[in-house]
Amino acid sequence: MRRQDTPKLVATVARLREEIVAARRGKRAIGFVPTMGALHEGHLSLVRAARNECDYTVVSIFVNPSQFGPGEDFSKYPRTLEADLDLLAGCGVDLAFVPAGEEVYRPGHDTWVEVGAAAEPLDGQCRPGHFRGVATAVLKLLNMVQPDAAYFGQKDYQQALVIRRMAADLDLPTAIRVCPIVREPDGLAMSSRNRYLTPAARQRAIVLWKSLQLAGELVEQGERDARTIAARMREVIEIAEDARIDYVALVDSETLQPVETIAGPTLAALAVKIENTRLIDNCILKSEE
Ligand code: PAF
Repeated sequence: MRRQDTPKLVATVARLREEIVAARRGKRAIGFVPTMGALHEGHLSLVRAARNECDYTVVSIFVNPSQFGPGEDFSKYPRTLEADLDLLAGCGVDLAFVPAGEEVYRPGHDTWVEVGAAAEPLDGQCRPGHFRGVATAVLKLLNMVQPDAAYFGQKDYQQALVIRRMAADLDLPTAIRVCPIVREPDGLAMSSRNRYLTPAARQRAIVLWKSLQLAGELVEQGERDARTIAARMREVIEIAEDARIDYVALVDSETLQPVETIAGPTLAALAVKIENTRLIDNCILKSEE
């Protein structure tokens, strides 16, 4: 039996619009957290940020097929609706929007959003078409919910940058908020994909955080050469014997272009497969000068 404070569950755009119109009539600011479900504390931190700033909170749960490439984990992506709704119960979420695939991509759908340079490097290279799928789904969801503010996690740093670019370029009225990474006690960034890891691989996955920590320490000690730092980061990751590195990158935190020297805010970003599970993580490195 579902608890009383469970959010209203809505599956169609038509019903969603009715609820949003009613919320707006009460002049309530609407906060929106788009998710693909398999919720964890990282998502709940976004919900809390939305609740702090807005009066009415919407969470969407939709595993967006268009952001998965051939051979990626779309079909095995964890779908845990009952547990997700239980987690949202008590968080003060007003509405959970859980559309079916054909509600979002109706027959004949043929319009796609392509963001430029921000979507090209890093995951744009490794997962061709990924950000086109993300941007299209996020724009559609923003149009459906029409929130005042939408909340994203910094763990998907490049995704947040792509969405900010899209929102600015397309004059979207929604404020895009980016919230800090939430980590497990041992430092592993929370991710729905962590649940794919066997206990032994989960232990090895800590090398991502260790390599980011090392990068921070090296910069604090005065190291400024990006190649040296990246090489040391790789050594830490390679301690996990099955780790396969997609990239270890030190890039400008706004343009995502590679840097040679750490001179301003620099993004250290990683994508690593551990036991075939692709994990990403990042941190901002700051030199004092
Ligand atoms: O970060 C995610 O979970 C997804 O990429 C998003 C933003 C919900 C779009 O499908």
